[in-house]
Amino acid sequence: MTCTVVVCGFFGDTGKGKIISYLSSEDKIAIVARAGVGPNAGHTVVFENKKYKLRMLPSGFVYEECRLLIGPGVLVNPKILLQEIQSTTSKSRVGVDRQCAVIEPKHIEADKKGRLAEKIKTTGTGTGPCNADRALRIVRLTRDIPELKEFLTDVPLEVNEALDEGKDVLIEGTQGTYLSLFHGTYPYCTSKDVTASAACSDIGVGPTRVDEVILVLKAYTTRVGAGPLPNELSWEEAEKRGWAEVATVTGRRRRAAPFNYELAKRAVMLNGATQAAVTKFDILFPECKGVKTYDELSHEAKSFIQKIEKEIKVPVTLMGTGPGTSEIVDVRNLKV
Ligand code: GTP
Ligand code: IMP
Ligand code: MG
Repeated sequence: MTCTVVVCGFFGDTGKGKIISYLSSEDKIAIVARAGVGPNAGHTVVFENKKYKLRMLPSGFVYEECRLLIGPGVLVNPKILLQEIQSTTSKSRVGVDRQCAVIEPKHIEADKKGRLAEKIKTTGTGTGPCNADRALRIVRLTRDIPELKEFLTDVPLEVNEALDEGKDVLIEGTQGTYLSLFHGTYPYCTSKDVTASAACSDIGVGPTRVDEVILVLKAYTTRVGAGPLPNELSWEEAEKRGWAEVATVTGRRRRAAPFNYELAKRAVMLNGATQAAVTKFDILFPECKGVKTYDELSHEAKSFIQKIEKEIKVPVTLMGTGPGTSEIVDVRNLKV
């Protein structure tokens, strides 16, 4: 039995979707439970030549035996959720907690104007105003929505019972450590904490039940929206280096900067990380594209891994070598 939490150590978009889709099928995970804020996140999964951009459903859908749950801490946009259940043909495996707060058109409207849109540059998906209504205890919950009736379940109970039975569970975090309302670059952050402890609370799993926390980092750093990004490059320079990315949810440009060891180190501390995954090795080291074993990685790529491990003091166990679910080097058996 292993309970693993997967969270991002930078500003989001480090590739949690890809890492979780790989782990789910490789480890034959019984349950992937989505934590985090809500549909402001976009998790990209490239599987069997198809690209999925998941804003509500857990990325574990690629493993057909896997139960897909959404914890009570997550905000649900019913329309987006139902669309994703359809596009992934996963209806029989999906469970949504009865106590998730529901995003309504008024929340989206409020998120698309004024200070939130202009100063914070939010995703405009209604999550901040919805969390505000939740704190005021005036928000509607999923248990009030007839269209979701067939999916409603007790997520904390399902997850804890699965752990009692010795099954493997993955908790899928969203956003990133430095977008946390508590630990991020306030006020340029999202509307709640998104570190590993918060992800557990979103699902209803107590801290004593967690075995591993995987911190997902990217070979460089990106940030969407407003707020500080140390050593930020110009868009032209990012393009030149192949680091120019476009956001999954909003289509905005992602601002880019080199890998930040200080931020990574602090993120290990804030999340209690036991290991790290680093994605986009193929972008920094094109000769590593599609590589699946450690030995095949270039000397430069290996030196980069060693430097990261020296600074952050936890092992780098997973290295992304392409967007596809199986484009990855996995040395967990050797290092953990
Ligand atoms: P948020 O919860 O929104 O923070 O998302 P995320 O962490 O799941 O990341 P997202 O999918 O938004 O962005 C990561 C991007 O990198 C996607 O386009 C992925 O397909 C891509 N990606 C992930 N890992 C790799 C990798 O190892 N190499 C390459 N080339 N692309 C990758
Ligand atoms: P909000 O979460 O929509 O309120 O946006 C607040 C800040 O967090 C903005 O800078 C967004 O760009 C950023 N943000 C929210 N969710 C994500 C995500 O999943 N990936 C990257 N940035 C995000
Ligand atoms: Mg994303």
